[in-house]
Amino acid sequence: MTSVTIRPAVEGDAEAIVALIQAAFTPLIARVDPPPGALRETAATIGAELAAHRGLVAEIGGEVIGSALLKHQDDGLYLGRLAVAPAAQGRGVAKALLAEGERLARAAGYPAMILRVRLAMTENRRLFAGAGFVETALMHHDGYAEPTFAEMRKGLS
Ligand SMILES: CC(C)(COP(=O)(O)OP(=O)(O)OC[C@H]1O[C@@H](n2cnc3c(N)ncnc32)[C@H](O)[C@@H]1OP(=O)(O)O)[C@@H](O)C(=O)NCCC(=O)NCCS
Repeated sequence: MTSVTIRPAVEGDAEAIVALIQAAFTPLIARVDPPPGALRETAATIGAELAAHRGLVAEIGGEVIGSALLKHQDDGLYLGRLAVAPAAQGRGVAKALLAEGERLARAAGYPAMILRVRLAMTENRRLFAGAGFVETALMHHDGYAEPTFAEMRKGLS
């Protein structure tokens, strides 16, 4: 496969990131309740996140095929909105984005990385567990009595 490049996201990537999020998260509508909040993102909301915090994009041949947002949360670096273009999935792009997020977190002295995963997305839970994340709390969306997602943490010390 043509090699994947990971680089910091800039505000000018917002449109491409939104398109990627739409493509990656739309198939999840059939699998998760409530529907993915990621689908409410717009170029404006992603641009604002990138202006205030940080993000990563993965590219193949100059095309954005993966992305993640990074921000400070509690004592850790939170990685959210992880998305890989459907045609590029299953080739290690998400693992590369997680590894780069971890490298940045270590460089900034964070003791942990944090992410959230829907309980229904068992393959995602396996992916993150395989990358060293542990489920530390079960949480639920507003209006839901049962847990709908888990917070996962990876200690970096
Ligand atoms: C989850 C997601 C980011 C994984 O990206 P990816 O680049 O396909 O993942 P990788 O190739 O790095 O890792 C693949 C691993 O994840 C698992 N996996 C999860 N979703 C997969 C998919 N759609 N296709 C192939 N493998 C998938 C596989 O079991 C594989 O594990 P293995 O290496 O032990 O075989 C991607 O499928 C995606 O964008 N999904 C829709 C949005 C989403 O769920 N985001 C995460 C929100 S918490």
